Amino acid sequence: MSRSRKTREGAREQGLSTAGLVLLLLVAAVAAFAVLGLFANISERKEEARVSPAQVVALDESSVDPAVWGRNFPHQYDQYLKTVDMERTGFGGSEAVPRDPSDVDPRLFTSRSKLDRIPQLVRMWAGYAFSKDYREKRGHAYMLEDQMLTERQRVVQQPGTCLHCHASTVAAMRKLGDGDLVRGFEALNAMKYQESATHVDGPIACIDCHDPQTLELRITRPAFLEGIAAWKASQGVVDYDPNTMATRQEMRSYVCGQCHVEYYFSKGDRRLVFPWAEGLGAEDALAYFDEIGFSDWTHAETGAPMLKAQHPEFETWSQGVHARSGVSCADCHMPYVRVGARKVSNHQVRSPMLQINESCQGCHRFPEDEIRPRVEEIQARHKHLTEVALDALVDLIDDIQAAAKAGAPEAKLEAARGWQRRASFLVDWVDAENSTGFHAPQEGARILGESIDASRRGQLALRERLAGS
Ligand code: HEC
Ligand code: HEC
Ligand code: HEC
Ligand code: HEC
Ligand code: HEC
Repeated sequence: MSRSRKTREGAREQGLSTAGLVLLLLVAAVAAFAVLGLFANISERKEEARVSPAQVVALDESSVDPAVWGRNFPHQYDQYLKTVDMERTGFGGSEAVPRDPSDVDPRLFTSRSKLDRIPQLVRMWAGYAFSKDYREKRGHAYMLEDQMLTERQRVVQQPGTCLHCHASTVAAMRKLGDGDLVRGFEALNAMKYQESATHVDGPIACIDCHDPQTLELRITRPAFLEGIAAWKASQGVVDYDPNTMATRQEMRSYVCGQCHVEYYFSKGDRRLVFPWAEGLGAEDALAYFDEIGFSDWTHAETGAPMLKAQHPEFETWSQGVHARSGVSCADCHMPYVRVGARKVSNHQVRSPMLQINESCQGCHRFPEDEIRPRVEEIQARHKHLTEVALDALVDLIDDIQAAAKAGAPEAKLEAARGWQRRASFLVDWVDAENSTGFHAPQEGARILGESIDASRRGQLALRERLAGS
């Protein structure tokens, strides 16, 4: 910048000949016309942008069908429909696996099984529905059918609470609660899954993230409203309500944090709760569950009271350098893309590795073939350390079984089961997180280190000499 200023000053000092001056004026005139023409063109298009959308159809709280919104906002709607696409990346994305359709499951394609790929998971979840069917996630278009048709539905009766993150539930909740979202949420939670599903029409829709009148982002899920308020309260902020108090940039992550989070169902009323009252870290969630004496299931091989972790993308992102630098989920997963003269947020929500240019290069001015290997190196290291942690956990499960068979005292077994619960939750937290380490590389490695330590301490607890008994 400073160099170009110097050059311009140099030109002024030298002075200009008359012929040069005339030429310059001519050029300037032509340029001015060109600019005016362009300007007219832009304002025409802007006019288009202002008039055509939002006027075709009137939207309100009953406009659930995205196709109706699509008449006002065709670009966003087209991109939204593309969430059916399946494409692999080095460590993420998804892949269509053909299957034979049947009466119980008419799907022609599913995603890859994670249990086949990571066999240690079957031991980790022994006695739990996840050990029967657990697949890689795929695009938003599939969220409802994948939930309805997972074999986990056939292993246990699932509650309506499941629906919260797998369908467009806003209008259904309002209706069931006579206009009150929270009451409608409670009504859905109390139903059996199959009954709850009759109240919705399809996967997440425009109305779940946008106010139909103003188009502003909004939070529609009571579990997030309650969870984020509990977390803010732990930081000394009272009565926090993201819909009135969050910045626009925060909302660009909060809308995703309604679903891409760790959760549990409270005993009794099966209310969906995000365990954030102690903080957003893995150990904060563990401390919370320990405090309320919660467990998801009893381990079939060891009898340990276990916890299952699920997709903590929001929590993990919050521990990383991007969150600290104010970079939102939408910045990377819904980057601006050019459609004609307009820039729109890409509503084909998917892996940024399929759109490095739009997702990353606005901030990181490196060539794509430097960015991709940088990400994949983080992911390869992360994946290896996850394998090490899973192997350590399986060693502990083997040892607890062998010790029980050999008649080890109950106190020792009890101690080892406590370590199993901890080790398992921590490695599960990291493995269930879907960025393969990218969202917070150092935090991922730290948690895996803690998990490996817990597994090995569990093994030590079973040893005669070191157990101190
Ligand atoms: C700085 C950019 C960035 C931000 C911010 C970010 N992510 Fe990601 N995310 C990534 C990358 C890179 C991956 C790895 C994709 C891959 O392996 O193909 C990823 C992976 C994912 C995946 C798995 C995608 C797939 O196709 O495998 C999900 C789900 C996800 N992120 C959700 C979120 C959520 C929710 C937030 C906010 C709470 C968020 N991300 C914030 C960059 C980002
Ligand atoms: C708090 C939100 C939330 C709730 C509640 C929830 N899910 Fe999900 N579910 C997700 C997200 C996010 C994904 C995608 C990320 C992933 O698969 O890790 C997902 C993925 C899935 C998948 C596809 C991958 C797999 O696990 O095979 C199935 C099936 C599924 N959920 C079933 C269920 C069932 C059954 C319930 C009720 C017990 C449930 N979900 C409750 C958010 C939720
Ligand atoms: C209503 C709950 C919900 C909300 C809100 C939500 N997601 Fe998802 N998301 C899911 C579920 C469920 C899946 C998995 C669907 C399946 O596997 O069938 C998923 C899958 C994904 C995937 C994997 C896509 C692929 O092609 O593999 C990405 C990436 C993702 N979500 C990112 C986001 C981002 C970013 C936001 C916020 C802008 C967001 N999601 C908001 C529930 C949600
Ligand atoms: C998972 C949440 C989510 C869903 C579902 C969703 N959007 Fe958006 N939408 C966003 C985010 C995030 C932005 C960026 C908003 C911002 O920066 O203030 C956005 C922006 C927009 C904008 C403003 C222009 C732009 O592209 O940035 C329009 C118009 C829009 N969405 C239309 C739709 C339509 C139509 C649908 C349904 C087909 C839809 N959205 C579904 C999250 C969502
Ligand atoms: C809105 C701007 C923005 C976007 C978009 C963005 N980043 Fe970043 N990224 C940052 C900032 C700021 C940092 C912190 C760097 C620093 O402090 O020097 C960072 C740091 C990183 C780091 C170093 C991580 C670490 O833990 O030290 C990597 C790797 C990275 N980004 C990759 C990516 C990739 C890949 C994408 C696209 C998927 C992406 N970023 C998108 C702004 C961005």
